Amino acid sequence: MIPKIIITIDGFSSCGKSTLAKQLARKLGYAYIDSGAMYRAITLYFVRNNVDLSNVAEIKSALENISLEFIVNPKNEHSEIYLNGENVEYIIRDLVVAEKVSEVAALKDVRTFAVAAQQQMGKERGIVMDGRDIGTTVFPHAAVKIFMVADEAVRVERRFTEMFEKNPNIDLDEVKNNIALRDYIDSNRKISPLRQAPDAVLLDNTNLSQKEQLDFALKLVHDQFEPVAK
Ligand code: DC
Repeated sequence: MIPKIIITIDGFSSCGKSTLAKQLARKLGYAYIDSGAMYRAITLYFVRNNVDLSNVAEIKSALENISLEFIVNPKNEHSEIYLNGENVEYIIRDLVVAEKVSEVAALKDVRTFAVAAQQQMGKERGIVMDGRDIGTTVFPHAAVKIFMVADEAVRVERRFTEMFEKNPNIDLDEVKNNIALRDYIDSNRKISPLRQAPDAVLLDNTNLSQKEQLDFALKLVHDQFEPVAK
């Protein structure tokens, strides 16, 4: 029996963090929290309400009007994000949001708001949370931390395939450029840039199947509690 701990999964865009996080949470009976969805939902609110990203007062007042919640959909057992009571799980994956989200996620007030909400969600423990700064800033004392990487070409192909299913007009170069730009902004922003925490375990899944990466993560979790005799 695995006690309720916090597991963090950070890494670049489209590395497959959420696939692993969801499967791991399901195996362990934990809650899965997609911190990127929170930044995306905030971005959606900002886009809809034409929030001026250079106006701090406007940003602060917009954040006061945002309430985010994750609710498990009984049909597919996925935890889905709600923005002020509206299910926005699917709409936040649009390119309109993807194109702005890294800029919004770099704002100080946005990060303070999101990190506080994430830490609150972690109070109960028994969670797997994925993102960019979960092991470094949100839960620096998490019991298990994974940092995921994969070759850029593989990441572009995975994201393209995922987006193509919803929109066959999607352009490969557009997806490629968006991923490259987000990687750059996420890694170079002033507050909580994307970094591997010193105690995070590196997982390169370029050539791994979903089962192989899940087995890798489960072994890390089990080793925490039943260390193998050396
Ligand atoms: O994981 P994702 O692609 O859905 O994340 C969307 C954006 O949110 C990503 O470009 C960077 C930002 N993000 C962040 O800054 N910190 C997190 N913990 C999670 C996401």
